[in-house]
Amino acid sequence: MKIIAANFKMNGDREFVDNWFQNFDADTENLVVVGLPAIYLESSVQNFNKSHFKIAAQNVSKFNNPGAYTGQMSSAMLNDVGVEFCIVGHSEAREHLCEDNQSVYEKYSCLKSFSITPIVCIGESLEVREANNHLDFISDQIEKFNTAEDKIIFAYEPIWAIGTGLVPTQEQIEEMSSHIKSHFSQQVTVLYGGSVNSKNSSEILNMNNIDGVLVGGASLNAEEFANIAQS
Ligand code: PGA
Repeated sequence: MKIIAANFKMNGDREFVDNWFQNFDADTENLVVVGLPAIYLESSVQNFNKSHFKIAAQNVSKFNNPGAYTGQMSSAMLNDVGVEFCIVGHSEAREHLCEDNQSVYEKYSCLKSFSITPIVCIGESLEVREANNHLDFISDQIEKFNTAEDKIIFAYEPIWAIGTGLVPTQEQIEEMSSHIKSHFSQQVTVLYGGSVNSKNSSEILNMNNIDGVLVGGASLNAEEFANIAQS
C-alpha cells in the first residue's frame, strides 16, 4: 500500500471542495490523504473520511497549550474535529511563514502528542543541488528527528521541482530516499513530491524506497488525482 497525498494549498472554495469529493472516484488499495485549507477540514472529515481516505491539514501551530496565539490552530483542535494527518515544513511555509527545522520539529511533536500523523516536508533548492550539497542539506533537515522513535513520514520535495514541471531523475530520487532512510533504525516512509502527475506517477511509485507521492497542482483535478491514486 502506498500513500497518495494531495496538497490543495490555498486553492478552491466550498463548492470546489464539495465537487472535488463528488468527482473523485478511485478504486485503489492505496491510502489517499487530502490536504485541505483549514476552513474546509471539519466538514470534509464529517462527509468524506473513510478507512482508505483521510483528510489532512496543511499546517499547525508549534504551541501545544491553548493560549494567546492569535491566528493559530493547535493539534488539539485538529484532533477535536477528527483530522488524522497534517503536512508540516512545506517549503512554501518555510519560505513565507519563517518555518525552520526547529519549529517543524516542534509541530511534529505537538501532532504526535495527539496521535495525528505528521507528513514532514523536506527538500533542497536548485542552488544547493547544483553545489552538490543536497545530501548534507537534507541530513540537516532531518537531524532533529533522529531520536524520534515512532514511524515517520517524510515528503522529499526538491524546491526546484515544485510546480515547475521538472522532476528529478530516478537515480536522484532513489539516492535521496535511501539517504533519508539510512539515518533511521526504525521504519521511515518517504514520499516524493514535485510535479507529480498521472503520466509520471506510476514510474515514481515503482522506484526503490519510494512509499508514495505528495501532489500539488495535479491534485486539484479530481479525475487526474484519481488516476494517480490508481497508478
Ligand atoms: P506540485 O506541488 O505537485 O504542484 O509540484 C507539490 C507540493 O508542493 O506539495
